[in-house]
Amino acid sequence: MRTVDIQPDRVRLIDQRRLPGELVILDCTDYHQVGEAIRTLAVRGAPAIGVAAAGGLALAAAALRDSPPDAFWAGLEAAAAELRATRPTAVNLFWAIEKVMDFARGQKGEPPAAVAAALHRFAVEMAEEDVAVNRRMAEHGAALVPERAGILTHCNTGALATVDWGTALGVIRLAHEQGKQVHVYVDETRPVLQGARLTAWECLQYGIPATLITDNMAAHMMRLGKIQLVFVGADRIAANGDTANKIGTYGVAVLAREHGIPFYVVAPTSTVDLRIRSGDEIEIEERAHEEVTHIGGVRIAPEGIAVANPAFDVTPARYITGIVTERGIAYPPYTVSLRRLMQGG
Ligand code: MRU
Repeated sequence: MRTVDIQPDRVRLIDQRRLPGELVILDCTDYHQVGEAIRTLAVRGAPAIGVAAAGGLALAAAALRDSPPDAFWAGLEAAAAELRATRPTAVNLFWAIEKVMDFARGQKGEPPAAVAAALHRFAVEMAEEDVAVNRRMAEHGAALVPERAGILTHCNTGALATVDWGTALGVIRLAHEQGKQVHVYVDETRPVLQGARLTAWECLQYGIPATLITDNMAAHMMRLGKIQLVFVGADRIAANGDTANKIGTYGVAVLAREHGIPFYVVAPTSTVDLRIRSGDEIEIEERAHEEVTHIGGVRIAPEGIAVANPAFDVTPARYITGIVTERGIAYPPYTVSLRRLMQGG
């Protein structure tokens, strides 16, 4: 099944908190449940949370379909506000909510039931479009992969982080399907372990040769010559190419530069935020300290120690070899190439 499946009366999600132990489906029947699923990482990954929020808005509209117009529009705006407040960093969330709300506002004057039906169809189309975009990105990115390559990736950017197929891991998956001899080095991705739990699971599902490493092993693997390429995803890309992605990505980029290894970001244009000039303007989500002090519910740090838990970091554009999007690959200077790509669509 798809990671996010929008149905008329529910948003069905693969519950990513339970993987790899169990494959459990989470049925969200109202938008509050969708918001909670986003906040608690039951659904995660920038494109997936955007589409899930779109599905949440469609559920909100469906619940209000028999209300008078004033109550319908006030309720829909309240749902959008609640969904926007779930996570701050991935711009796809805000992009998707704005896209749905712009479409909805264009139907003002129509009966609420008709708007609700149209919003459901719109959210389903967004989900379909996400898969198509991922496939196009994979085509562009796979052309960068040589016949034989060790590829390092960080966090989870596969089917689980999107509606289906994936971004950076989608590129690797296509290269593998094309018969290229790829071997993935999967960063475990502390503290939430998206690499160890989710990317490792996906690689096994697809039969892609992969080795799980802890985050602090990347430099060693590069020095041994095991890694020829790095592909990572993104949560927000500023106009100058600075890229927010899962905490630890910046370190990988610096290591790649030191070892002369190309470092590519793979992300749809919905992740590019031309309204901000640089990564300094990106809000970095700070998550619960228990994610750091505990592993699998077991405390590993003493009570009373101060803890920081930024969920993302910003990789300066100068470390990024290229940004692979569904419209092609942007190369430095990104201020020019990203703007051109965004205008071209
Ligand atoms: O906190 P998460 O798991 O939502 O963070 C996800 C990432 O950082 C991914 O690399 C990014 O969203 C790109 S997913 C295609």
